[in-house]
Amino acid sequence: MYLSPFALALLLLLWPGSGFAALPKYMGVARCQTCHEVPPSVVFGRWAESSHAKAYKTLGTDKAKTLAQPLGVKDPQNSPACLVCHTTAYGEKPWRYSPSFTLEEGVGCEACHGAGQKYARFEVMSKVAMLRQRKPEQGAKFAAEFGLHYRGREGCASCHGQGRSAEGKNYRCPAEKPLDLEVALPLIRHWR
Ligand code: HEC
Ligand code: HEC
Ligand code: HEC
Ligand code: HEC
Repeated sequence: MYLSPFALALLLLLWPGSGFAALPKYMGVARCQTCHEVPPSVVFGRWAESSHAKAYKTLGTDKAKTLAQPLGVKDPQNSPACLVCHTTAYGEKPWRYSPSFTLEEGVGCEACHGAGQKYARFEVMSKVAMLRQRKPEQGAKFAAEFGLHYRGREGCASCHGQGRSAEGKNYRCPAEKPLDLEVALPLIRHWR
């Protein structure tokens, strides 16, 4: 059977489980910044001052290189063993990253809130905010339909404390300290 390139593209797009139709792309922090930096919002600035924003840069330091050496990792900024936690959404299929996304952002908004392609629009965002205030459960459900999540305690543990799996291996940080959530949450606070 001959399929024109157009039909083939359409088939791929609609094929259940191909993911093309269903899964949103990671847009990168610059996209969130366009709205979340506008006063009176302090969200972007607070994140930018947090250590999450420096997570990729950290991997370029002498300290990181010294810690990585015994693990056989020469260049932490190029190794999955480190990138898996020090960047956003490491190891996804290449098409999931929009061209505006960069590894340099470190642990960006979408590492905790999910890929933003569908929700990072004014209509969706303001409806989520409105609903969450008035009807929290309905708001969270609506948010999730657009891929927006609030990774609280469980989300932190995906990088803090138990290692993280990628490509069939579980990677651990040579510098990690245990996370006390009561102390940690206020340190990354960028919400009301
Ligand atoms: C994608 C992985 C990832 C997730 C998810 C994550 N973190 Fe982190 N976190 C890191 C990395 C990597 C660092 C180290 C950054 C650096 O200093 O270079 C860090 C650092 C921190 C620090 C600073 C620690 C210090 O000693 O200065 C705090 C506080 C923190 N995280 C809290 C949280 C909380 C709370 C959550 C959940 C809401 C969370 N993190 C989720 C990867 C993550
Ligand atoms: C399982 C997730 C994970 C992996 C894998 C990981 N890191 Fe980390 N890293 C963290 C977290 C979380 C922190 C913050 C720890 C804290 O201070 O509470 C951190 C902190 C650090 C710090 C300390 C930053 C500072 O301010 O002193 C360095 C250096 C570091 N990591 C280097 C590396 C290197 C090098 C690799 C690869 C060999 C690596 N990490 C792999 C999660 C990870
Ligand atoms: C380390 C994980 C993490 C990162 C990174 C992160 N957030 Fe959050 N965010 C959270 C958590 C946890 C909450 C609190 C959810 C709750 O309990 O209401 C939150 C709350 C928020 C809220 C407020 C909701 C409210 O109730 O006021 C906004 C807006 C927000 N984040 C936007 C962002 C933006 C924009 C970025 C990037 C510049 C970002 N977040 C980065 C974890 C994160
Ligand atoms: C077109 C503008 C716009 C863009 C782009 C945008 N947002 Fe928003 N966002 C808003 C507005 C408006 C609100 C509701 C008012 C508020 O909470 O600041 C909001 C609210 C939120 C909330 C809280 C909703 C609630 O529970 O009250 C989170 C979390 C959030 N945004 C995350 C993000 C992330 C992550 C990105 C980037 C992937 C992003 N936003 C991009 C405009 C935007």
